Amino acid sequence: MNAAVEFIGTRMNAQVDEQELERIRYMRCIKASKRVRWDIEADVFRGRTFDFSRKFLPDGLTKVHELGFLSAAEKLQLSHVQGRTYACMFGLIERYIGAKVLDLANAASLGDPVMLEGLVRFSDEEIKHQEMFRRIESVIGARMPGGYIQVADPVEVARMVLGKSSWAVLALTCHIELFTQVHYRESIERDEALSDLYRDVFRYHWLEECQHAVIDEIEWKRADDLLTGVEREQGVEDLIALIRTLDGILRSQAAADAGYFMRLCERTFTSGQQQDIRDTLLRAYRWQYITSGLQHPHFEKLLSSMISDAQMRRVCAALGPVLS
Ligand SMILES: [Fe+2]
Ligand SMILES: [Fe+2]
Repeated sequence: MNAAVEFIGTRMNAQVDEQELERIRYMRCIKASKRVRWDIEADVFRGRTFDFSRKFLPDGLTKVHELGFLSAAEKLQLSHVQGRTYACMFGLIERYIGAKVLDLANAASLGDPVMLEGLVRFSDEEIKHQEMFRRIESVIGARMPGGYIQVADPVEVARMVLGKSSWAVLALTCHIELFTQVHYRESIERDEALSDLYRDVFRYHWLEECQHAVIDEIEWKRADDLLTGVEREQGVEDLIALIRTLDGILRSQAAADAGYFMRLCERTFTSGQQQDIRDTLLRAYRWQYITSGLQHPHFEKLLSSMISDAQMRRVCAALGPVLS
């Protein structure tokens, strides 16, 4: 056998091994998805409602402990405002994720049945999660005073996101589904001061998100394998644009939530305190939805394995103000 034929043979074997490995990972995801499957009412809500005498989100996510001039009751209320936005934000981003996964399932419809089943289960779970987040908003909204605003429309955001390159959309999705797990495992799970129902919502959500993050990674790598150099350049530009758009939504939501929170407090704040509240909310939201995902070691490892050092420097420079 000459060297060229031997090289091609080795490469083909490596591709077959890679495909088999992806298939095995998909099969594990399907098995886990069947094992952890839950129902919104029977498993999560169980006739309960949110306990407003307790926090919704841990201080590590909300940063409310940094606002020393707030009373304990005001910090609690700010945690409820942020907890409401946290559920709304998942409802927002999962609208596009569900649609993207349906696109992938459609492309796989006549392919490997294992991958098709994995993608169909994934999209079905995201549709259920969206229903759960809509229900949370209606339950929390009924208990809190009027005036709360969700600044972005989920369908408009989904249309914009899905207009970008598949590589960038999958990168954003992988980042989101990794930070979802970090928030639960490193923060929400261990905070006993939270409302039990609120914690359970994100425990059940996490149980299904674990599989999603694995499938995101496989699909992102598959998309990466198909890219030309020019397309990858475009993918990097699109990823930067998507994160900047997400940051724009966070800036508007932080301003809206700061205004809503200050109206809920029955007192006035100095202009310096008002600015502190706005700045802290924006810092918290950037941490929750951008930084904790981009700085996730596994995300960094995946991204740096796909793009050049120069492209990575461009990403860091473009997102510097957001990440600082
Ligand atoms: Fe989800
Ligand atoms: Fe998900």
